[in-house]
Amino acid sequence: MFKSLGTFGMVLLMVTALVMVGLGFIVGPDHPLPWIMLIIVIAIPFIHNKTVSNRYLVWKDEYSVGIEEMDNDHKKLLHLINQLQTAVHYYTGKEFEEKALDELVDYTKTHFKNEEKLMADNGYADLEAHKIQHKQFIDKVNHFVEQYKTNSDVTMIDTLKFLKEWLINHINGTDKEYGKVLNEKGIH
Ligand SMILES: [Fe+2]
Ligand SMILES: [Fe+2]
Repeated sequence: MFKSLGTFGMVLLMVTALVMVGLGFIVGPDHPLPWIMLIIVIAIPFIHNKTVSNRYLVWKDEYSVGIEEMDNDHKKLLHLINQLQTAVHYYTGKEFEEKALDELVDYTKTHFKNEEKLMADNGYADLEAHKIQHKQFIDKVNHFVEQYKTNSDVTMIDTLKFLKEWLINHINGTDKEYGKVLNEKGIH
């Protein structure tokens, strides 16, 4: 019923606090306990929403590599990671999780091909080193997918964490390097 332990904990805490509010007002509104509990009940959804929203990736202008086509690819990758995050958080079912993961992996491969072609077409000197990073990433994701098939709960969370960190670091580091070089050649 509750895939997320955090969501279950929040509901349990709210129910407990509501009971305490009720009991507190029976004791008397002069007692501070019901008021403290009331504040907790009101604050819990805000804290929970903040915690959940932190799990989603939001595109920032500083992620731009200065080439519109690649930025659009990266935005789509962020969207697909968030889609996977939603599937995991709201437990839409293993089938949807697998579909979201497959879609993300497929699009990542497409993006890598687009990016490598762009670099090759423009004689980018560090192409081979960049391709190695892409290959290592795909190998690692394939490893996660294999693990997911045998232990879905644990590895999907690990997979998401890895995907988010790797993607943002790669865009901000390695991708921006080719962006700068190609920008200097007039490619935007
Ligand atoms: Fe890249
Ligand atoms: Fe990229």
